[in-house]
Formats: sequence, structure tokens, C-alpha cells
Amino acid sequence: MTLWEGRLGRDPAEALMAFSGSVGFDARLAADDLDGSCAHVRGLLKAGILNAEEGAVLLAALEHVKEELAQGSFVFAPGDEDIHTAVERRVTEIAGDVGAKLHTGRSRNDQVATDLRLYVRREMIAIGNKVIDLQEVMLRRAREVEDAYLPGYTHMQRAQPVLLAHHLLAHGWALSRDVDRLIDGLRRANISPLGAGALAGSSLPLDPDSVAKEMGFDARFENSLDAVSDRDFVAEALFVLALLGVHLSRLGEEVVLWSTQEFGFLHLADAFATGSSMLPQKKNPDIAELARAKAGRFIGHLTGLLATLKGLPLSYNRDLQEDKEPLFDACQQMELELDALGGLVSTASFDLARMQEAADGEDGAAVDLAEWLVERGMPFRQAHATVGSLVRDSIERHVPLAELVQAHPALGSEPLGLLLPGVAVTRRTTPGGAGPKPVADQMSRFQRRLTLDRERLAHMAAHLEPADQAVHAPS
Ligand code: ARG
Repeated sequence: MTLWEGRLGRDPAEALMAFSGSVGFDARLAADDLDGSCAHVRGLLKAGILNAEEGAVLLAALEHVKEELAQGSFVFAPGDEDIHTAVERRVTEIAGDVGAKLHTGRSRNDQVATDLRLYVRREMIAIGNKVIDLQEVMLRRAREVEDAYLPGYTHMQRAQPVLLAHHLLAHGWALSRDVDRLIDGLRRANISPLGAGALAGSSLPLDPDSVAKEMGFDARFENSLDAVSDRDFVAEALFVLALLGVHLSRLGEEVVLWSTQEFGFLHLADAFATGSSMLPQKKNPDIAELARAKAGRFIGHLTGLLATLKGLPLSYNRDLQEDKEPLFDACQQMELELDALGGLVSTASFDLARMQEAADGEDGAAVDLAEWLVERGMPFRQAHATVGSLVRDSIERHVPLAELVQAHPALGSEPLGLLLPGVAVTRRTTPGGAGPKPVADQMSRFQRRLTLDRERLAHMAAHLEPADQAVHAPS
């Protein structure tokens, strides 16, 4: 039996069902679909379209289906094209004749848009919290390593020493902007499409405002055509995940580099490393490599969806069904990635001696020498050239830089202390800079930011109707 049996005289071809059915993946929306249906039933009750008894029967049937899905005892039927069809079919089996009233004033078009917005809302909050979990690990590690430093790089060439805490928090702040984008996107996602019907609203006295409120949405749609046809909220979620994935890929790349024997800055805990099937000595950073690679997958999901949306005429088109798999996959992969990276960063050990040794080269203080000259009145360009030629001499003639500095008339022995190990990094004193003073300040600002972001997410979660039922996809 199909939902359109009155109009089309035959059962759909097997090939059509095989090609167009979505229940294999959209069963993931079951909890959201049930929440949406409960809100819809209450709306029909308020509108007087259902009487109290009919409403109670339908709500009980929906509750029953919710339990079946949560327990994994829900049986999908061959004709269940998608999760909406499956739920309605089962509700009708349980509720009897009144089941036929469930879909009054509603279309799968506004229904699926509603379900997906509920899903995005819930997932984005969960992912946001996982990002903050990772940031907390980074902050803890940053605190633990105190004033340890390493070379900071530009162009992958050693540039100036920076505190390790500063380096870790550089990744941490990028993630804060991801959390910010995620919360910002939620404001636009949290709009109810229910009541838009197939595309034009309804002749029945429905109240989209009250069902919106019922589901914890901030508002109802403004335009029914727009409500059933746009998936910009999915594209935004995929963009946020893609950029978050890009940020994590940069962290991953550094873990890969730092754990090479050549760098030797980082040793992975055994539980977060892998071995080789052939080479007995190997210890590999697979999590970090996968974090690097998954960014490509997230970007692919975003570009795939944008390509699907491009040029689609109003309003609902079946093309829109292709929004789901990329979204589900991106959310699932991101959760796994955040957990794995959190474990990796939490348990890895830093070789602080090796990092510091790499940062202690005399030329790491070259700009400090130049600034020492600036403080004594030399124009910076001239100071830059003076120190630059000393560095060149030191390399070409294999003479320690300190010796050349001491012999130079404008420098002498006074600035020699700048070249001592560990000194240059302490001279980065400006706000947001890489030295101990600004980094201590940065750490408390970062901590405050994490607390605030947690509260923002908790606040959003608090006035939403949680769809908390675990739902099992059909096998
Ligand atoms: N499975 C469909 C989707 O994901 C649900 C909406 C179907 N609507 C329709 N008019 N065929 O988009």
C-alpha cells in the first residue's frame, strides 16, 4: 500500500522503490519524526480537528511506536518508503481508524523539513559540547607544560620560540570560532516549517505558531514555499563541520609531524597509536592522519549538497532527499573524530627537552638583537640588516653568533644575554603574544570562553524538547 493509492492504479515498481526509498538511512530521524508528530497531533486537537479521545489514542500510539523504536522491536515493512511512512503505517496499525487522521493538514514536505531541523539542532549541540571537551583537554595540557617552549615556525622554518601552551591554544581558539559558528547557525536552523503543508499552507484552522512553540522552535516559517524547499540550514551545518574538520586536520598534521623521529616532539600513548602488520618496530599516528583526511570528506559533503541545491526550482523537489546522508555521515564522523582526538591529545607526552633544544638556536633571538638596537635609536631596517649580515657571517664562516655580536661596535657584550637559552621567549610580552606573561592572561581568557560557550549550549538545550530515544535503523 502506498500513500497515494487513490491516484495511481498500480503498486510502484520494485526498481522505483529500490532507487527512491530512504528508510535505510532516514530511520535515524525516527525520534524527531515522533516528536514532530506529537506536536502536530496537539495542534490538531487545539484546532478542534481531532476530539480529545482521538487525540489521546493517537498520542498513545505515537508513544508506543517510540518505545518500539527505542527497544529495537519496531519492524519495518517492505512498503515503508521512508521513516514518515513507516511511523504513520505503524500508528495506524495500533490506533485503528483514527490513524487515518494523523496526516491531516500535513505533508511529508513540511514533516521532513521539521524532522531535519530537530535533528540538526540536537546534533549541533552535541557536537559543540564535544568540541569544548577537546578544548578543555588542550587547556589542561597547556597548563601542565607551564613555561615549556618550542620553535614557532613560518614557512615551516624555525622563526621564534613560542610557549607550547601558546601553540596548543592557537588550535583551541580556532575551535572557539567553530563553536561560535555552530551556535549562530542554530539560530537560523531553529525555525519550524510545520504547517507549511505540501507547499502552500492549509485551509484547516492550524496554528503553526503554537506547534513551533511546542517543539521548542524560536519561531515558525514566514513563507510556506521557502519552508519546504530550502536546506540552507543543512548547508550551514555542513559548512561549520567542514571548517571544524579543516581546523582539526591542521592539528592532525602537526601531530603527524611532531611524532616523526625527525621532530620527536611528541610521543603517542600506545592506546592512541597503531602498529604495522609487517614492520615490527612501527608506531603510527593513524588518528591524526584520519583527522587530516576526514576534512576532505566533510568538504565533499558540503559541496555535494550545494550542488544538489543549485538551480532547484521552488518548492519541494525529491532532490532534497539527498540532503540526509551527507548530514548524517558528517555528524557521525565528527563525533568519532572529536572523541579520538580528545583521547590522543589527552594522553600524548611531549618531549619538552627536545622542543626546547630545537628552539634554543642563537638565531631564534635575531629579532631581539635587532629590537635591542632599535631601543638604542637605530632605525629598524638598519638594525635588521645589521643582524641579518651577522647571521649570514656566522653561517658562512662557522662562527658562533655570540662571538660576532660581541665583536660588533653597535652591539658588544651587553645584548649577549638575549642569546641565552630560554630568554627570547620571555621577551614576547605584548597582549596575545607567545611569552609567559600574555599566555597566562590568555589561559584565563580561554577558560572563561569555554565556560561561557558551555553555558550558551546548555541554555539552547534547556529550552528544546529533547528527542532522546535511541533509534535503531532497519537491518
Ligand atoms: N523522503 C523524503 C525526503 O527525504 C520525504 C519527503 C517526500 N515527499 C514527497 N513529496 N515525496 O525528502
